Amino acid sequence: MGKNVFIYTFGCQMNVHDSEKMLGVLSQGGYQNVTSPEEADLIIFNTCAIRAKAEQKFFSQLGRMKPLKRRNPNLQIAVGGCVAQETQKKIFSRAPYVDIVFGPQNINSLNQLLDQGRKLAVADNPGLAESEFDIVRDSSFRAWVAIMYGCNNYCSYCIVPYTRGREVSRPSDHIVEEIRDLHKLGYKEVTLLGQNVNSYRSDTDFPGLLEKIDATGIARVRFMTSHPRDMSRELVAALAGLPSVCEHIHLPMQSGSDRILSLMNRGYGFADYRDKIAMLRAEIPGIAVTGDIIVGFPGETDEDYQATLSAIQEIEYDGLFAFMYSKRQGTKASSLDSQVPESVKSERLNNLLKIQEQITENKNRCLENAELEILVEGPAENDPARLMGRSRANKIVSFADNGERAGEIIRIRVTRAHMHTLEGINLAINSHIV
Ligand code: SAH
Ligand code: SF4
Ligand code: F3S
Repeated sequence: MGKNVFIYTFGCQMNVHDSEKMLGVLSQGGYQNVTSPEEADLIIFNTCAIRAKAEQKFFSQLGRMKPLKRRNPNLQIAVGGCVAQETQKKIFSRAPYVDIVFGPQNINSLNQLLDQGRKLAVADNPGLAESEFDIVRDSSFRAWVAIMYGCNNYCSYCIVPYTRGREVSRPSDHIVEEIRDLHKLGYKEVTLLGQNVNSYRSDTDFPGLLEKIDATGIARVRFMTSHPRDMSRELVAALAGLPSVCEHIHLPMQSGSDRILSLMNRGYGFADYRDKIAMLRAEIPGIAVTGDIIVGFPGETDEDYQATLSAIQEIEYDGLFAFMYSKRQGTKASSLDSQVPESVKSERLNNLLKIQEQITENKNRCLENAELEILVEGPAENDPARLMGRSRANKIVSFADNGERAGEIIRIRVTRAHMHTLEGINLAINSHIV
């Protein structure tokens, strides 16, 4: 009889994709994916260590497994992902009911680990982990494609280089083959994943890889995350010239203060950052720009913070992810003096988000009456009579349900802008309004 697996996924897209890989490996071992932990013979936690909060969320959810384990002694609990790689065997002492701890580079051997029972499997130097099994993908029209693993940047606040290891790029022909197959299966969009995709380098560089991917015929290509330092003129030209590459860039700034950027070991100042955004906007009309900001980095003064505020007002992001600095053990910034009090961090965060909300809304308002290409995803949130999809610039657009199918690419006209979404009409159906 087949066995059931349930996966809790925390963290970034790389983890979401790793969970798809786990399902692929486990399906070889006779497992099928179920939607509730109560039905499972195996529960996996695919964890994230980026901020203390992400780790806490995992440990409190893990604690809730105790009664399940008591009720079903055959239930196996496995912990994978970045907390597993970071904490290793300490997880067993903190949660004795955990059976297996495995790192991001040990996904391919999951079935063997399960056969052996209680076990620790983490790579000393995490690196390339090519999928040896078919990936069980969540969507039939959008797919994640890993192009590189790990990170060499050592931003002083960040734990990723320690949990994901050194940067390794996949050979371009593996990537292109994967995307060619997806295209044949009817996939419309791929998102290329890596901690710093524009430092991709194998037999070709990132612009070269994009060129090869564009030639597969896949309709849409996205990628994340890019690093401002590695945003070259050649890459901007490739983004501008390749029709499949979507008009959206996620380019984390982290801070608007040069002093803080240097303490963060980011390798650029605000003036460089501003110039790169200007170059992108000049070459790629309609490009949406999103970013990440950390407030309350150790030693961040009011003046540094004000520099960040004026920077986001100048850049005018389409959307922004902002975080309070979280001290991560083993990182360089964790040993810096003058940690900023939590109350100051949260005040700075809330204030920044309020300012950004207005900018986001203004940006969306500029799109009223625009004609956009939408990849239909499915039902709109909170309104069963409407569907939603995403524009090439990654804007969420809802429209009346006229039987459009998920995975279809349509043209819409934007009729109304809201803070986080747009409303539109399908131009093929409402041609009289055109
Ligand atoms: N490789 C990507 C993503 C890293 S994690 C990049 O370089 O952009 C995503 C975001 O989390 C980062 O951009 C940063 O803004 C935030 N982050 C990382 N470490 C953090 C920490 N210790 N505290 C708060 N935010 C952090
Ligand atoms: Fe972390 Fe910096 Fe690497 Fe991004 S580029 S994963 S923030 S070390
Ligand atoms: Fe989290 Fe690891 Fe991703 S720490 S953000 S799951 S690389």
